[in-house]
Amino acid sequence: MNVLVTGGAGYIGSHTCKELWRAGYTPITYDNLSRGHAWAVKWGPLEKGDLGDLPRLRAVLQRWKPFAILHFAATSSAGESLEIPATYYHNNVMGTCSLLHAMLEVGLKRIIFSSSAAVYGIASGEFVAEHCPHTPINPYGRTKSIIEQMISDYHEAYGIQAVVLRYFNAAGADEEGDIGEAHEEETHLIPRVLDAALAGGEKAVTIFGGDYHTPDGTCIRDYVHVTDLARAHVAALQKLDGQNALDIYNLGGQQGFSVKEIVDRVSFVTGRKILQRIGPRRPGDPSRLVADATKAKRELEWQPLYSSIESIVDTAWRWTQRSQHDGYFKKVFGAASAPRPARFFVIGKT
Ligand code: UFG
Repeated sequence: MNVLVTGGAGYIGSHTCKELWRAGYTPITYDNLSRGHAWAVKWGPLEKGDLGDLPRLRAVLQRWKPFAILHFAATSSAGESLEIPATYYHNNVMGTCSLLHAMLEVGLKRIIFSSSAAVYGIASGEFVAEHCPHTPINPYGRTKSIIEQMISDYHEAYGIQAVVLRYFNAAGADEEGDIGEAHEEETHLIPRVLDAALAGGEKAVTIFGGDYHTPDGTCIRDYVHVTDLARAHVAALQKLDGQNALDIYNLGGQQGFSVKEIVDRVSFVTGRKILQRIGPRRPGDPSRLVADATKAKRELEWQPLYSSIESIVDTAWRWTQRSQHDGYFKKVFGAASAPRPARFFVIGKT
C-alpha cells in the first residue's frame, strides 16, 4: 500500500520511511531537498517537489494514489524561527495549506501530521498532557499550533481524518546505521555534544543558560528515539484505517534530562572528556518540557523501545563516527568554504 511522505528525505521522515517499509507499506517521498538528502531516501521512490507547487503535488497524488499522507516537511528549529519567522510561516503554514488543498482536490482524506511539543510553550505542570493549553513562545511552535487548528477545521468541514503527533525531542539514529541526523547547520543538543566529544577536547559545547529554575540551572527536555517516533506513525496509520477521527498524541519518553545531564551521559557513553562552558540563554527556550505520553501508550499501543538515554546516545554516536568516516557530510555539504544556500525557501517550482 502506498503512502506519501512529505519531508521523507529529512531526519524523522527518513527513519519513518524505513519503519513503513518494514511494516509492508511503500513510502513515496515528496521533498524539495532544501534540507533533506536524496541519499536518505532508501525505502521507496523520491518525487522531488515543493509543497506550494499544486500541479506537481496533484500529479504525484494521482500517480501513486496513496492511502494517506504523512506530513513531515517543515522548517523546525525553535531558535532559528525567532530570526527568520517569514520562512517558518511560509514553509510550514502556507505549505500545509497547499497540501490540504491538493488532498481535497484528489479526494484523499487521511493525514498524519508532525506537530511538536513546542505548541505548549511554558508548561505549568511537571508533565504536559494533550489537553494542556497552547502557549507557544516561538514562531515555530505557533506555526505548528496554527496548522493543528487548520486540520481540525478541515476535519469538521470536509471530513479529513487526522492523527496529530506532538514530538518531544527527537534524537538518536537508526540501530543498523543506515541513516541518522544530518543537518547542514546543526542546532540540536545531542549531535553538538557528540561533535565536541569527537573533537576530543579541542571544541567546547556551550550550554545555553545556567540560571533556569531547574535543579542544576539548565533546561530539561524529554528525549525520544527517532525510531520510536517512526514506529508510532505506523501505529497511527493503522488507527486511521476506516475511522473518521481527529486524534492528538504526545510522543515522548516521559523522563526529563537537563542539558548538563546530557553532557555527562554523552561523556560516559563515548568515554571522552567533553569541554563545556555556560553561555547566555537562547531566546525561545522553555525551562522544562516533559511529556505525559500515556494516551499514545493506551490508544496506539505504543511503547518506546529505544528511548533510554544510553540507547539514544549510543546510536547517535555510532552514526556520528560512521558519517565522519564515510565523509557523508563532506559529500553532502561540500567544502567548509562553500557558499551557504539561501535560508528563505520560496514555495514554488523546484
Ligand atoms: N542546547 C544547549 N546548547 C546547544 C544546543 C542546545 O544548551 O548547543 C540546549 C537548548 O537550549 C535546550 C536543549 O539544549 O535547552 C535542547 O535543545 P535542542 O535545540 O536540541 O532542542 P529544542 O528543545 O530547542 O527543540 C526540539 C526540536 C523542536 C521541538 C522541541 C520539542 O528541535 O522541533 O524539541 O521539545 F519542538
